[in-house]
Order: sequence, then structure tokens, then C-alpha cells
Amino acid sequence: MLPPLLLLLLLLLLQLPHSWSSPPFKTSQDFTQCLLSQNSTVATHTNLIYTPASPKYSLVLQSTIRDARFNTTLAPKPSVIVTPTSLSQIQASVHCCREHGLQLRVRSGGHDYEGLSYTSPYPNYPFVVVDLVNFRNISVDVPEKTAWVQSGAILGELYHRIGEASPNLAFPAGSCHTVGVGGHFSGGGFGFLMRKFGLAADNVLDAVLIDSKGSVLDRASMGEDMFWAIRGGGGNSFGIVLAWKVILVSVPSPVTVFRVNKTLEQNALEIVHRWQSVANKLPKELMIELAVTTTNSSTTTTTIRATFNALFQGRSNSLVSLMQSRFPDLGLRKEDCQEMSWLQAMVFHAGFPSNSSVDVLLDRTISPLVGSFKYKSKSDYVQDAVPKAALLKIWGKLFETDVGGGIILMAPFGGRMDEISDSSIPFPHRAGNLYQVQYLSYWINDGEEEAQKHIGWIRELYNFTAPYVSKNPRSAYVNYRDLDIGSNGGDQLRTSYGMAKAWGDKYFGKNFDELVRVKTRVDPHNVFRNEQSIPPNV
Ligand SMILES: Cc1cc2nc3c(=O)[nH]c(=O)nc-3n(C[C@H](O)[C@H](O)[C@H](O)COP(=O)(O)OP(=O)(O)OC[C@H]3O[C@@H](n4cnc5c(N)ncnc54)[C@H](O)[C@@H]3O)c2cc1C
Ligand SMILES: *[C@@H]1O[C@H](CO)[C@@H](O)[C@H](O)[C@H]1NC(C)=O
Ligand SMILES: *[C@@H]1O[C@H](CO)[C@@H](O)[C@H](O)[C@H]1NC(C)=O
Ligand SMILES: *[C@@H]1O[C@H](CO)[C@@H](O)[C@H](O)[C@H]1NC(C)=O
Ligand SMILES: *[C@@H]1O[C@H](CO)[C@@H](O)[C@H](O)[C@H]1NC(C)=O
Ligand SMILES: *[C@@H]1O[C@H](CO)[C@@H](O)[C@H](O)[C@H]1NC(C)=O
Ligand SMILES: *[C@@H]1O[C@H](CO)[C@@H](O)[C@H](O)[C@H]1NC(C)=O
Ligand SMILES: *[C@@H]1O[C@H](CO)[C@@H](O)[C@H](O)[C@H]1NC(C)=O
Repeated sequence: MLPPLLLLLLLLLLQLPHSWSSPPFKTSQDFTQCLLSQNSTVATHTNLIYTPASPKYSLVLQSTIRDARFNTTLAPKPSVIVTPTSLSQIQASVHCCREHGLQLRVRSGGHDYEGLSYTSPYPNYPFVVVDLVNFRNISVDVPEKTAWVQSGAILGELYHRIGEASPNLAFPAGSCHTVGVGGHFSGGGFGFLMRKFGLAADNVLDAVLIDSKGSVLDRASMGEDMFWAIRGGGGNSFGIVLAWKVILVSVPSPVTVFRVNKTLEQNALEIVHRWQSVANKLPKELMIELAVTTTNSSTTTTTIRATFNALFQGRSNSLVSLMQSRFPDLGLRKEDCQEMSWLQAMVFHAGFPSNSSVDVLLDRTISPLVGSFKYKSKSDYVQDAVPKAALLKIWGKLFETDVGGGIILMAPFGGRMDEISDSSIPFPHRAGNLYQVQYLSYWINDGEEEAQKHIGWIRELYNFTAPYVSKNPRSAYVNYRDLDIGSNGGDQLRTSYGMAKAWGDKYFGKNFDELVRVKTRVDPHNVFRNEQSIPPNV
């Protein structure tokens, strides 16, 4: 037992991260001053620091807002945006945030579904954004089958560089080409090669990051525990990852893709029901994703449309015969298939016409999948096939007409995903999962009332599906960020372990405690923080 006085002293000491440091910045000028005092090369750099008073502040802020829900005047905004071009500028930013107790948020591609890389639900806690838009170098080593990619690159740039270097090399990551490498790799990153090669984060060999002290670390110097944590433990908790060394995987050329629609009238219910227990057992070379939404079958009737999107690492003839023997229900024909390079397949699956130039992948601004929609996303993992009657009931929610766009996306697991241990990296959703679900609500109209209607709808849908998905915890994918499942709140310096465990268990399962341990070691003062960053246990 500690004597009461000592206990009091201890409690006071626990508050020290606050009282030690200077008070939070009152104005963005303070931060700018601190930054300028750090290094004269910072002072001479012009396009580096943007405050709300800078003419280009809005342009820089909006440059990678990828969810128009947060593109409003009311959304809380960074006190300062820094767009560094050198390591020392990043080190200076980390230093100034740490010294002054300011939240630091890193932004790479800006696709966070809750906008946490550039906004916050809490207006009273100022934050700085370090935007890695200038860190986009990629170097591909064909003989070694590796690449270094900086975090500010988008997936499309990475794919383009790999595909141009060799038609037989590829990287297993997501299908939306504007997604940033930094956030995507930090949270896992799945795509059409997942069943053969696992996640993006499963294929990382080394990394360069700047930690909370401003030190530049690589795999050897950060330690295996930190290297483990940054591969799937979610962004913005452990440091600023500047670059990743990845394994390039071998793919044949050509590969084959198809996109086939089935409406309810075309037996969608039977086929989707079958898909649930077939897609995860197909050869690893074949990934068939599924998108379920409503569509007008005529001017007067609305129906369900299930779209099967696939990539097969092989020729169309073998795909058609494989499908005839393993999944005849879909009725795949040779004319549904298109053979193309893996790079062209990434163009196709990014939503462009399949004959588009591969250069569309370099375009950071236009994404046919993203557009100017507002989004709310949630996720689930399914371990037992959902019965037909339940599928129909769930799909019924999609008909709630005044709600507009709702879509259910399903990605089959199995294959390589079943072979990787659930603690190999922090991403825990491995063997035992048939598929991952993403629910997405999207809308165009402005206004809080409109937003609440759509967000309310997706929350109901999520409640509705509870009986059919993983339980205790009801798992979720950290890259489909969802603040409904829990939050650290606005004053994240006071986040308790228990508060964070509510959402942490869902994203990371039994890996959550190890993430907290690593965080406590590498960022005890919680410099890198947001509403769902791993809290230190101090
Ligand atoms: C249209 C769309 C399509 C998507 N498709 C897929 C898909 O096919 N597969 C899939 O797995 N996911 C997909 N996602 C989810 C995507 O992987 C995540 O949103 C991912 O976190 C985005 O990374 P980003 O760099 O673009 O986002 P950001 O908003 O920049 O970052 C996301 C989070 O990571 C942190 N972070 C960013 N950069 C760094 C860094 N360098 N170091 C440390 N922390 C960092 C940020 O602070 C933030 O907390 C999609 C998302 C969208 C919007
Ligand atoms: C954000 O709003 C600005 C205008 O205020 C607009 O130019 C830009 O395209 C918008 N971006 C998104 C993603 O909606
Ligand atoms: C200032 O920045 C330059 C260039 O990036 C770097 O070489 C130098 O070491 C930095 N100095 C300090 C004190 O950080
Ligand atoms: C990118 O590579 C170029 C050429 O090697 C180099 O000059 C530049 O400094 C690099 N940029 C960053 C941000 O690392
Ligand atoms: C699938 O349906 C959508 C919407 O009705 C349509 O645009 C698309 O062309 C269809 N695709 C195929 C392959 O039939
Ligand atoms: C479907 O039909 C309804 C009613 O005619 C219409 O309001 C809606 O815009 C149509 N949807 C699509 C996707 O065409
Ligand atoms: C792609 O094909 C469409 C229709 O066949 C055609 O209109 C378009 O011009 C083609 N685009 C390119 C880049 O070849
Ligand atoms: C979902 O269910 C939970 C608990 O069962 C309840 O608290 C919540 O209000 C429900 N949400 C909606 C949108 O129905």
C-alpha cells in the first residue's frame, strides 16, 4: 500500500505531460514561430507552412479531402498544414507538436472514412496536419523483386511504376487508385491479389519512419515490436512512416478480369448465397468480389443487382472451365472475360473503361469511384454463410427509397489469408472468416439533416446484420474507419485504456494489448493521436 501522500504525488506526476510542456498554441503563428526557430532551411522554404490566413490554405486542405462530408465550412480544420519536402522539416514539425502538446495528424492520401487525417469531430482541440504530398518517390528493383515507395504516393502511382518496369511483377493492395500508400499500408490494405499474397502490410520488408522524438528509424533501429505495430496497427499512432520497402509478387501476363451483373430476376439470391461458401475456397489465383445494390430494372421497378468483379491470375480459357466446375451458378461465359496485363486490370478495377490509358492511374484528382459523394462506411466479418431469407431481409434495407445510395461490398478471404497467423501483424482477421463486408452509404445533397438521414440508415443496417456476423468482439477493419464503434474523445491525452479497448478489440482482437505496449514504449506522450489512435498506458 502506498501512503496517501505518495499516492497524491504519483497522481500529480501522471499529469506531468501537461504541466511540463508549454501551453497549447493559442494561435497558429506560435507553431509557425516554433517551426521557423528549428531550422533555417525551414524559414527559407516558401510552400511549406499554411495557416488559415494563407491564401492557399483552403486549396491545400481540400487537395485530398476524399469525402465531401467533411468538405464544409463547419468541419474543424487544422491550425497549420505543413507540406514538408525534407526529413528535417518533418523532424521540426514533430518537435514543435511535442513541445506544445499539439495533436499531430499525418496525411498521405486523405481517404480516411472519418476524415481523421485532416479534421476532427471536436472543435476545441487544435491540431497540425503534416501532409506527405511531396513524399511520392518510388523506386522499383526488378531483379531483387522489391520496391521502395514513399507514403505520399497513391496506389495508382505504385502500380504504374511496377507495371511499367515489368509485366510480370505486381503488388497486392487496394483497387481504388487514389488511396494513399501511407494510410493504406498502416491499416492492412487488401485487393484482388489478397487470396494469393495476403495484404499490402503482409508484404512490407522495411520502413523508414520519424518517431515522437524526431529520430529517423528503419526496421533495424526501430525494433521488431514497432515494425510489427506499423504494419496494420492503424495510422497515426506510432510515428510518421515516410517510406516502405515492399516485396513485389509475380503475376502472369495476361491476367483475366470479368464484371458480371445478376439481378434478383436473374437468380441473384441463389448465386450470392452460393458465393458465400464457394468464393473463399476457390484457387488462390481467383478473387471474386461482390457488390450488392439496387437498380432500376425498368422505369417503374427497382430490383437488387449483384455485381461480381473478378481477377484471375491466368488465361480466360482456364478461368471459364474453372468456373464451370467450381461455380457454375454464375454461368460465366468466355465473352464475359477480358485478358489484359495486371496493370490494365488495375485500371479496369479502379472503375475506368478497360481500354483507358494506364496513365489514368497517375491522376490524383479524378476517381470515378469517389466523385464528390459524401460517405459513411462500416464493416463486418462473416464466418457462417448468411441464410437466404436473411440475405433478402438485409437487402430489403437497400430499397428504402428516400435514402438513396446504399451498397454492400463483400470480399472473399481464404487462400493465403487462412495461412497467415492472426498475430503475424496487428491485422487479426484471418482463418475462419468467409468474407469481409463493407457497408457504404453515399449521398450528394448538402446539409446536416440529409447527412443524419443516411448515417441513421447505415446504423440501422448495421444493427440489422448483427446476428449474422462475427461476435465478441464484432470485428471491424481499421481502414474502414468508423467512429460509431468507439472513440478516444476530444481530449485524447486523457483517453483510458478501457475507452480505447472498446474500438481496439474490434479492429485488432487480441493484438490490441501489444499495440498499447508498443505505443507506450515509442510515444509515451501521445504526440501522434486522434479519436482512434492507440493510447499509451502510462
Ligand atoms: C474510395 C475508397 C476506396 C478504398 N478501397 C480500399 C481497398 O480496395 N482496400 C482497402 O484495404 N482499403 C480501401 N479503402 C480504405 C483505405 O485503405 C483507407 O482509407 C486508408 O487508410 C487510406 O489511406 P490514405 O493515406 O489515403 O488516407 P489518410 O486519410 O491520409 O490516412 C488514413 C489514416 O492513416 C494515417 N496516416 C496517413 N499517412 C500516414 C503515414 N505516412 N504514417 C503514419 N500514419 C499515417 C492518417 O493520419 C489517418 O489516421 C478505400 C477507401 C476509399 C475512400
Ligand atoms: C470541396 O469544396 C470545394 C469548393 O468549396 C470544391 O472545389 C472541391 O471540389 C470540393 N471537394 C470535394 C472532395 O468535394
Ligand atoms: C536543417 O536542415 C538541413 C537540411 O535539411 C539539415 O541538413 C540540417 O542538419 C538541419 N539542422 C538541424 C539543426 O536540424
Ligand atoms: C525523390 O527523389 C529525387 C531524385 O532522386 C530526390 O532529388 C528527391 O529529394 C526525393 N524526394 C524525397 C521527398 O525524398
Ligand atoms: C451492370 O449494371 C450496370 C448498371 O445497370 C451497368 O452500367 C453495367 O453496364 C452492367 N454491366 C454489365 C457487364 O452488364
Ligand atoms: C430509379 O427509378 C426511380 C423512380 O422512377 C428514380 O427516382 C431513380 O432516380 C431511378 N434510379 C436510378 C439509379 O436510375
Ligand atoms: C474505349 O472504347 C470506347 C468504346 O468502345 C471508345 O469510345 C473510346 O474512345 C475508347 N477509349 C480509348 C482511350 O481508346
Ligand atoms: C442499434 O442497437 C443498439 C443496441 O442494441 C441501440 O443502442 C441503437 O440505438 C441501435 N441503433 C439504431 C440506429 O437502431
